Amino acid sequence: MTGPQGRATVSREGALELAERYVCPDRVRTLRALAVDLVVGRREGYRLWDVDGRDYLDLHLNGGVFNLGHRNPELVDVLVDALQTLDIGNHHFPSVERSLLAEQLVGLTPGSRYAVFASGGGEAVDLALKSARRATGRRKIVSVTGAYHGHTGLALAAGDERAAESFLSDGAPRDFTRVPFDDLEAVERALGAGDVAAVILETVPATVGFPLVSPDYLHGVRRLCDEAGALYVADEVQTGLGRTGSLWGVQRAGVVPDVLVCGKGLSGGLYPLAATLLSERAGRWLEEDGWGHVSTFGGAEVGCRVGRAVLDITTRTSTQDRISALVARFTTGLDELQRKHPDRLLEVRQTGLVIGLRFDHPQGGMLMTKALHGLGLWAMFAGFDPSALQVKPGLLMDDEMADDVLARLDRAVATLPAGAVS
Ligand SMILES: Cc1ncc(COP(=O)(O)O)c(C=O)c1O
Repeated sequence: MTGPQGRATVSREGALELAERYVCPDRVRTLRALAVDLVVGRREGYRLWDVDGRDYLDLHLNGGVFNLGHRNPELVDVLVDALQTLDIGNHHFPSVERSLLAEQLVGLTPGSRYAVFASGGGEAVDLALKSARRATGRRKIVSVTGAYHGHTGLALAAGDERAAESFLSDGAPRDFTRVPFDDLEAVERALGAGDVAAVILETVPATVGFPLVSPDYLHGVRRLCDEAGALYVADEVQTGLGRTGSLWGVQRAGVVPDVLVCGKGLSGGLYPLAATLLSERAGRWLEEDGWGHVSTFGGAEVGCRVGRAVLDITTRTSTQDRISALVARFTTGLDELQRKHPDRLLEVRQTGLVIGLRFDHPQGGMLMTKALHGLGLWAMFAGFDPSALQVKPGLLMDDEMADDVLARLDRAVATLPAGAVS
């Protein structure tokens, strides 16, 4: 079937059928089992419409890709304007756009000296771990059980074991050690032999439902890395770009990493872009080996323009004020929610606007995804802990929408079975 301007159009059912046949059969079936049959059509701000016109609030934002809203008009203008004169660019040559974005990122990121660009977070994590290996001459990578760093090579091997093993991509197991989250003694033991290149940490682990971090944990990891000569790699793909209330989550904790990885929101939701920010030590190879790492689409010039605008908007006083107001509103609202549903909502985990809710039911987060979908709100359960729900409010959301989100959460929690486990 053909729509306006000769574009092919397809119904929601048709799109689901094609996706099930050609793209992601199991994913379509799993979502359908949850009664989720959303095929996104129109999108604007923090609202989505499925192709049949049903509207949703987006409280998932694809992990922060849409921090500043879907099709943020300021960012759309920047991209359209960039396309008048630029394209992806040639990654072999120095480029004005990449250089300016690199300067801006390094200026905003304590401890960083160089910026290397990628087209996605996994690729940027791979580069972080490669750099740590080259800087230290060691192979071993320490990560956290239940971590998620992407589905590319080293990133996949450092993440959840099951995902890597099923593709026979778990690396040489002796090169990847996992430790429980928030356990400093385990990190100390893992670093004991002095053979570790890097400890990689999501500042707040997303896929286990954003558990709270003990106040001294990140500092402790920093100290242990220094003592062992290992690099601290901060994966800020979800926690970066303002979501914790600071530009980077590690800044909120007062920790300076050797390497910081950002992605998702840097794209403005419009052009794929990620970056690995390297300290002097981690990035020394850039001084020695001009083609040590190359990426055709990493740092595409039109994307860099958008990335700069993302940083401008995110660091603006009005945005900072909006984030602070939202943090306070969600703190109060979620506290009320927990007082109202103590037998259902076990834990509110809030680090700025990085929020996880854990329920008193092993599938509580999943049941919430389903109930909220029915109430026109899109939020995802935590992939590695279905008892938890990820809550990611847009950074520019207004108070009225925040209250609407809290009201829908309240209605959805009320549908959960009470006191199922304890
Ligand atoms: C914490 C974290 N790191 C890395 C990645 C990988 O990013 P990408 O999907 O862009 O490769 C993700 C993606 O969800 C993530 O959440």
